[in-house]
Amino acid sequence: MRHDVTMPATTNLTTQLPGVDLSVARLGLGANVFGWTADEASSFAVLDRFTEAGGTMIDTADSYSHWVPGNSGGESEAIIGRWLARSGRRNEVIIATKVGKSPTAPGLSHANITASLDGSLRRLGLEAIDLYYAHEDDESVPMEEFLATFDGLVRAGKVRAIGASNFTAERLADAMQVSKREGLKPFVALQQHYNLMERPAYEGPLQQVAQTHNLLTFPYFGLAKGFLTGKYRDTKAQDVTGPRADASRAYESPKGDRVLAALDTIATAHGCSLGCIALAWLAQQPTVAAPLASARSVHQLDELLPVLSLTLTVDEIALLDQASGDQS
Ligand SMILES: NC(=O)c1ccc[n+]([C@@H]2O[C@H](COP(=O)([O-])OP(=O)(O)OC[C@H]3O[C@@H](n4cnc5c(N)ncnc54)[C@H](OP(=O)(O)O)[C@@H]3O)[C@@H](O)[C@H]2O)c1
Repeated sequence: MRHDVTMPATTNLTTQLPGVDLSVARLGLGANVFGWTADEASSFAVLDRFTEAGGTMIDTADSYSHWVPGNSGGESEAIIGRWLARSGRRNEVIIATKVGKSPTAPGLSHANITASLDGSLRRLGLEAIDLYYAHEDDESVPMEEFLATFDGLVRAGKVRAIGASNFTAERLADAMQVSKREGLKPFVALQQHYNLMERPAYEGPLQQVAQTHNLLTFPYFGLAKGFLTGKYRDTKAQDVTGPRADASRAYESPKGDRVLAALDTIATAHGCSLGCIALAWLAQQPTVAAPLASARSVHQLDELLPVLSLTLTVDEIALLDQASGDQS
C-alpha cells in the first residue's frame, strides 16, 4: 500500500527541524538502551562514536528505562546529561525527550507536563530541550489544555520544538487544527512505529496527516527490535539471547524471511550490514526525516552508521517494498 505523498524538505541527507539550529543527520540514536542493556560506560562510548561520525539527534524519554528492575525512569536522561557535561558536545547534538508515559508521572495535564519538563531539564543538565514530544495521547485532558501547555514552554524558551508520538491519524489531525485555530505553536514532528516489518499502521491515514501538515517523522523500532539485523537466523551468534530476543523473534515468518533475503542481496551490493540497509529504506520513505535505532555497543553502532551517507537505488527500494508488502 503506497500513498501519493511527496518527500520532506531533506537535502544532502540532512533535515532542518523548525526552531532548531543544527540539522538532523540521517540516523537518530535511540537511547532506551541506556541504563538497560547498555551500562554507563557503554552508553558513553556509543554517544562518543555517534557524534564523532556526524550523528546529531539523540532520542530519549523521561520514562526510560523504568522497566529495568530497580529503575524508576529518568536513567537514560541522567546518563545523557553526564555525557553532555563530560564531552562538552551540547552544541553538536539535538536532544529529543518525551513526557506522558512515565509510570510515576503519567499523562499530559498542565501540572504533569511542567513538572516533568523540569525533571528532564535537571537530569539532562540543560536550559532547553530541542524537541519535546507528547509520548502518547491523553484523552483525559482537553487537547486545548496540553497544546497550550506545550505552546507556553516554547514561548518561555524551555523547549525549541514540539512533537507527537503514538497519536492516531484522527487525533493528530485534530491537534493540528486546534493549534492553528487557537494560534498555538504546532507539532512539527511525529514519532511513530514504522519499519520494514510494520508498514500498514503508518502508510495510510497517519502518513497522510504528516504529509498534509509537513510534519517531520522519526520512526521508532527502525530495526524491528533487532530482527532486521538478521542476527536471529544465526542462533550461535553471541548476542541473540538478550532481553530483546523474544520480541524480535516474533517477526520470524515467511514475510520476515523474504525481507531478510532482500536485505541480504542489497547489503552485499553495498558492502554493509542488513540493519544499515533496513534503516536506509526507512530514511527514504515519504515524510521520514531520520529513522531511530539504538545500539548497546560501539560494534553494533558501527554496523548502522553507513546509513548516514547511503542512498538506495529505485530498484533496491522496489525490491524491499515488494518483499515487505502485505502478503503474510
Ligand atoms: N515513541 C515511542 O513510543 C518509542 C517506542 C520505542 C522506541 N522508541 C525510540 O526508538 C529508539 C529505537 O527503538 P529500539 O531501540 O527500541 O529498537 P530498534 O532500534 O528497532 O532495535 C535496536 C536493537 O537492535 C539490536 N541491534 C542494534 N544494532 C545491532 C547490530 N548491529 N547487530 C545486532 N543487533 C543490533 C540491539 O538490541 P540487542 O543487542 O539487545 O538485541 C538494539 O538495542 C529507542 O531507543 C527509543 O529512543 C520510541
